[in-house]
Amino acid sequence: MSALLSLKNVHRRYRRGGFFTRTEMLHVLRGVDLELEEGASLGLVGRSGCGKSTLGRVALGLERPDKGSVCFRGEDIAASDPASYAEFRRSVQVVFQNVQNSVNPRMTAGEIVAEPMRNFFGLSKAEAVERSRPLLEQVGLKASDADKRPTQFSGGELQRVCIARALAPKPRVVVFDEAVSSLDMLVQARVLSLIEHIRDEQGLAFLFISHDLRVVAGLCREVALMADGVIAARKSSVKELVATGHPAIGELLASLPPAAPGR
Ligand SMILES: Nc1ncnc2c1ncn2[C@@H]1O[C@H](COP(=O)(O)OP(=O)(O)O)[C@@H](O)[C@H]1O
Ligand SMILES: [Mg+2]
Repeated sequence: MSALLSLKNVHRRYRRGGFFTRTEMLHVLRGVDLELEEGASLGLVGRSGCGKSTLGRVALGLERPDKGSVCFRGEDIAASDPASYAEFRRSVQVVFQNVQNSVNPRMTAGEIVAEPMRNFFGLSKAEAVERSRPLLEQVGLKASDADKRPTQFSGGELQRVCIARALAPKPRVVVFDEAVSSLDMLVQARVLSLIEHIRDEQGLAFLFISHDLRVVAGLCREVALMADGVIAARKSSVKELVATGHPAIGELLASLPPAAPGR
């Protein structure tokens, strides 16, 4: 059986430099191979700036690889027909870190969650907004919160709205890119337990990108380390990953904040 989502020898370069400096190419992804199986719960860790978000954007089809391929259910998305491509875009959703920037402040929460249902299922606005209500309840908000706007929510609540939006088109894979990193510890713990609950209930595959080894250790059943533009290791626990002694791991361990008292 082929993996749900796979990256094969993916390369991605960015142009760096500006008016006064000579243009250089920044070779961020240098041959990434990564497979995500149905129901997988994979953490992706690595130093800041190593290319985790770039990998995420490529996996979501938001950016194209310069070389290599992204396959959904074994089919290269760059070669798929419009119907299969739409199926891929519906099936692979994302939750970003910066929730304020990823929602339109003029829309209500109901409209935000309704948008993918209108796009992918062709629902009318009124019908999609009604369907957003049980989704908001599923992420621990109230049905009536559908009528509120982003400024009326706290950061943690708004992240729940974004999770509901990601779940709305009934995806098979959700990519979380530092999705809890800007929340304070207590709110982070609550959102993490929600994410865990949804994963176990719906059997979704997760790619959980984070620089926080502790979060990944608590949530993921597998962990991959990104370093030097490739997946340097993939293990079934953070403990095993630490045991590899990879220099990037040492840095990640050193960057962990001290444990909260009493934990
Ligand atoms: N659109 C872009 N244009 C130019 N450089 C970029 C772009 N996106 C990311 N980069 C650079 O690519 C590298 C990897 O970035 P990123 O994928 O965001 O890393 P991470 O998520 O691991 O912190 C960084 O040096 C970053 O500055
Ligand atoms: Mg990032």
